[in-house]
Amino acid sequence: MSINQSIKPITTEVKDNLTIGGCDLVELAKRYGTPLYVIDEATLRGICREYKNAFKGKNINMMYASKALCTLSTSAIIASEGFGFDTVSIGEIYTVYKAGADMSKVLFNGNNKSRRELELAIDLKVGRFSVDNFYEAELLNTIAQEKGISADVLLRVTPAIECHTHEYIKTGQLDSKFGFDLSQVDEVIASQYSNLNIKGLHAHIGSQIFELQSYRDEVDILVSELKRINQKFGLNLTELNIGGGLGVKYTEEDCPPSVEELAQALSALPDDLTIYIEPGRSIISTSGVTLYTVGSSKQVPNGRKYIAVDGGMADNPRPAMYKAKYTAEAANKPDVQETEEVTIAGRFCESGDVLIENITLPKLETGDIICVYNTGAYNYSMASNYNRVEKPAMVLVNNSQSDIIVNRESLEDLVYKENIPDRLRR
Ligand code: LLP
Repeated sequence: MSINQSIKPITTEVKDNLTIGGCDLVELAKRYGTPLYVIDEATLRGICREYKNAFKGKNINMMYASKALCTLSTSAIIASEGFGFDTVSIGEIYTVYKAGADMSKVLFNGNNKSRRELELAIDLKVGRFSVDNFYEAELLNTIAQEKGISADVLLRVTPAIECHTHEYIKTGQLDSKFGFDLSQVDEVIASQYSNLNIKGLHAHIGSQIFELQSYRDEVDILVSELKRINQKFGLNLTELNIGGGLGVKYTEEDCPPSVEELAQALSALPDDLTIYIEPGRSIISTSGVTLYTVGSSKQVPNGRKYIAVDGGMADNPRPAMYKAKYTAEAANKPDVQETEEVTIAGRFCESGDVLIENITLPKLETGDIICVYNTGAYNYSMASNYNRVEKPAMVLVNNSQSDIIVNRESLEDLVYKENIPDRLRR
């Protein structure tokens, strides 16, 4: 079984309480407070190695899509596994740079990169730019000219592939804000931008993908498009970035393919091409869990029972945004038999702030610790300060050791960037 096919981190054990990475989750909650993001290093390294093994022998560059979770420590771990990074802002680029990434293995992607971002990315010696549109091609070419360099680029294209995932996380379909339509590629190439060194094509078909056929279709389209361009323009473009997207198992109903199966599906990629893949979710999701403390509860007369926890949509907006489903357990009651069906509600002032609807858990009381699985991806990276609540801390666990990798925000953190103009002071 591949790690992305597991709901829980691979080191999860049931002792008196649940443990991950040899660390008792109730102890972690006591020591660092809740809500608390926990990242299991063994699971993170494990999936990185699965990817490397599955694609061994192929000319494949593994690029982690930083948007899923971008912190100094997780980036350092992923870099140490030999991965490069797919980045979408100067903030992500700066973070992986500070984490010690090999900048030649960093790709800058995104549909509206600013002049400032492009300039800084060139200064930080980012290895590849994924050029998304005509405006950016002009802008990057101008900046590269000013700096006297030639920028290595891939052209982001939209291969018109439908895959079954949530509307908001589809990106490769025809009507998309990302990339050039295939019919526009010739015009970009014909423009002969003097300071852009076009190396190949880049596409990403969507996220939380379970159907391998979408990848086979993508490979067919991109390989034949590359051939066509090379023939028509007498070029030798040799690079293809096929994006990310492999799904993970949030609940028992989810059946994502394994990394090995993904590698099989991509086996039609010719050996003479340099390939990039850039998974985000499937690298980081399973290694992460979030711990919450149970506070109030409410039994709706003749209705359901709500259990409120001390976090919710600000630390995990995915249920509210995408109707995403999660699995949870009571960390301090791993063996309790008596159960009841409850709905886990967040603490934010919005009815839609429900983390998990209708889940069967041991009878819960105030002070119990809930562990929500598979929160490594797109939780902290999309977290907000809604309701002016401090963002949680994050700890890294490994071999019974825990280290804070993101400090909990303080009340001072909430106000320190703000300023009251003198005329408002009394
Ligand atoms: N490459 C490109 C160009 C992308 O746009 C994305 C994700 C990835 C790679 C990584 O895809 P992954 O392997 O993580 O599926 N916030 C949404 C997910 C948005 C994904 C956007 N693009 C969510 O929480 O489900």
